[in-house]
Amino acid sequence: MNPFIYDHDTLYCEQVALADIATGAGTPCYVYSAGFIVERFHAYNSALDGTPHKVCYAVKANSNLALLRLLAEAGAGFDIVSGGELYRVLAAGAKGANCIFSGVGKTAVEIEYALDAGIHSFNCESEAELDLIQALAARRRIEVPVSIRVNPDVNAVTHPYISTGLRQHKFGIDRADAERVYDRAMACPNLRVQGVSCHIGSQLLDPGPLMEALDLMLELVDRLRRRGVPVRWLDLGGGLGVGYRPAEQAPDVAEYARAIAARVSGLDLELMIEPGRSIVAEAGVLLTRVLYRKKTEAKEFVVVDAAMNDLIRPALYQAHHEIIPLRRRPTGTILADVVGPICETGDFLARGRNLANAFPGDYLAVCTAGAYGFVAASNYNSRPRPAEVLVEGNNWRIVRQRETFEDLVRGESM
Ligand code: LLP
Repeated sequence: MNPFIYDHDTLYCEQVALADIATGAGTPCYVYSAGFIVERFHAYNSALDGTPHKVCYAVKANSNLALLRLLAEAGAGFDIVSGGELYRVLAAGAKGANCIFSGVGKTAVEIEYALDAGIHSFNCESEAELDLIQALAARRRIEVPVSIRVNPDVNAVTHPYISTGLRQHKFGIDRADAERVYDRAMACPNLRVQGVSCHIGSQLLDPGPLMEALDLMLELVDRLRRRGVPVRWLDLGGGLGVGYRPAEQAPDVAEYARAIAARVSGLDLELMIEPGRSIVAEAGVLLTRVLYRKKTEAKEFVVVDAAMNDLIRPALYQAHHEIIPLRRRPTGTILADVVGPICETGDFLARGRNLANAFPGDYLAVCTAGAYGFVAASNYNSRPRPAEVLVEGNNWRIVRQRETFEDLVRGESM
């Protein structure tokens, strides 16, 4: 299902004309298709039917409460990386027992909060973290389920900022060191060592490295079991990419899920995955309005009301997002940079792009913006963060109000 399609040159999200949302909610504004998100979750979940499994949505990709609620109702678990994400998941009505806690820098306060919430397990990333969880669990006289994140040293072919599975990265425990660290964790009386986890990177268009990591992890599971570690689950992390460019072929979610399920079949192992982007990226667009056209000797610029504070991916990762008009007109195309109002040359949504000849007042959709869009938005240049809208069939509603100027100074004092 592609939720964003033209009908008579008008762009729709499911059955709602996006221009109605742009005028009703204002711009810039994120719009998400509920139908797409639920469908993608089910694509993963159904493909893993028959294998003991948990699909734990990576909350960092998009943590709006309405989306978390949709996914919780669909039966998702959640991969969280902060106390704030746990708060959101609980506020959305999900159970702590469906959360796994990842991340290299969990604080004692966050660990206590997660223990209060009775989360499923911690994905531990260092010996010091194991020691801290052991100490906090001992004080409570409880046993805490943990899994150790192992760095498999596999090269995920993606942008260097989001590749995480190589030795030189800060993540996980070196594969060569894994057995020693597992032995050490097994000796901690208040830790129940039951899982093995990894995550090698994000936006992988080739599932090959994920399969390679899976094989290495399965070898490790075998070795660990032989030395007495009762491994019950394997968490393969997230990472499946999506097509940001028309020509980019993304792996099929269900095919990938079936392939990994086939490898663990018969091993008496629960399979966990932590997909984020592949569930929400294509479900979302960022709507923006053209403010000005500006031509210099060197270039043409389309100045829009969305900026790098709303969507930082182009500036931070040189990411490509298609930009299309909400209303198609036979006015041809132009070659231009699409830029925002922020005072930095790095503030662009597209550079040297062939796009519809759009005029001031026209609306544009920045595509594939449902993942790592709003969640990474900031107030830079004192710009209120945009509104978020959820579309369900022919209904739409605001699921996060646009921030106000008052919001900008909340908590400050003179
Ligand atoms: N699990 C862990 C431990 C992770 O670190 C991540 C993403 C995921 C799961 C979800 O990965 P996904 O399925 O979404 O690829 N801001 C960047 C992406 C950062 C990804 C960080 N970790 C971007 O805009 O491309």
